[in-house]
Amino acid sequence: MIEHVFGGDWTEIKLARLEKYLAAYRTIFTGNERARHFTTWYVDAFAGTGSRSSGETAGSSLVLSEDVYQDAETSRYRDGSARIALGLQSPFDHYLFIEKSKAHVNELRAMIEKDFTALLPRCDLRQDDANGVLCAWCKERDWKKERAVVFLDPYGMQVEWSTIEALGATKGIDLWYLFPLGVARLLKRDGNIDEAWQKRLDILFGTDAWRTRFYQTRMTQDLFGDREEIERNVTVENIQGFIQERLVTCFSKVADGLVLRNSKSSPLYSLCFAAANERGGKTALKIAQSILDD
Ligand SMILES: C[S@@+](CC[C@H](N)C(=O)[O-])C[C@H]1O[C@@H](n2cnc3c(N)ncnc32)[C@H](O)[C@@H]1O
Repeated sequence: MIEHVFGGDWTEIKLARLEKYLAAYRTIFTGNERARHFTTWYVDAFAGTGSRSSGETAGSSLVLSEDVYQDAETSRYRDGSARIALGLQSPFDHYLFIEKSKAHVNELRAMIEKDFTALLPRCDLRQDDANGVLCAWCKERDWKKERAVVFLDPYGMQVEWSTIEALGATKGIDLWYLFPLGVARLLKRDGNIDEAWQKRLDILFGTDAWRTRFYQTRMTQDLFGDREEIERNVTVENIQGFIQERLVTCFSKVADGLVLRNSKSSPLYSLCFAAANERGGKTALKIAQSILDD
């Protein structure tokens, strides 16, 4: 068995919120007269193995904060997002699991075969990059008849903005997105950011407006005349505010995200929620916000 090691208490906070939302979502789609005719999907685009154990190994090179996955807690197995979604009292009609690592996909498939045999025909497992699969999948669906909850739980900056746009354009998706606040580390004090990282930030935010959002140039005077001074505004609130404003450009409703911190209180991620559907978005937001605020 592969040990998929990540997370501490903040992971539990994240997964508990997801579970509550998924249960509420399925209650609406089984109970509500107007919602009942929709086919529902749960999409886990960074699916992992289905289980996790808290431990001490760091993740891939794309992990932004090295301490994200280091936690002194004793190692113990817990349900990951896939297991939580499959274990709902009222399961979804379809499941799409996307995972880049072959070993993780194999582990996930074995887990479903063993513990959720009856749900196996509803599950589509893809070993691939989440961005490509999601963009293609959004186009394949009939959004007049289908609805989905998409969970984006990357280690770092793997989600491309074009993917967020594709999800929003469906008008049928509720999105939970774990946005990496570790980007703060790339936004250097002097504003001197490596060219390659600048491009990565453009792809992450879908705009180059982050430059003026996080840095302002001021003219100051000293003994030697006029001088340009760079003012940096990289706070958790500003990053979170910016990503929420970006989500508003693609989704009809966007919640106030929840900042997830490690045991040293360092901010790691913002748990964001956005609803694409105009009509259903109001109720979705109300439920998601109360779960986030709880
Ligand atoms: C934080 S873990 C997901 C944990 C999972 N949501 C859970 O609760 O069990 C992130 C996963 O994304 C996978 N991954 C990394 N880059 C990816 C990509 N571009 N597309 C799809 N999966 C990717 C990693 O192999 C890892 O299993």
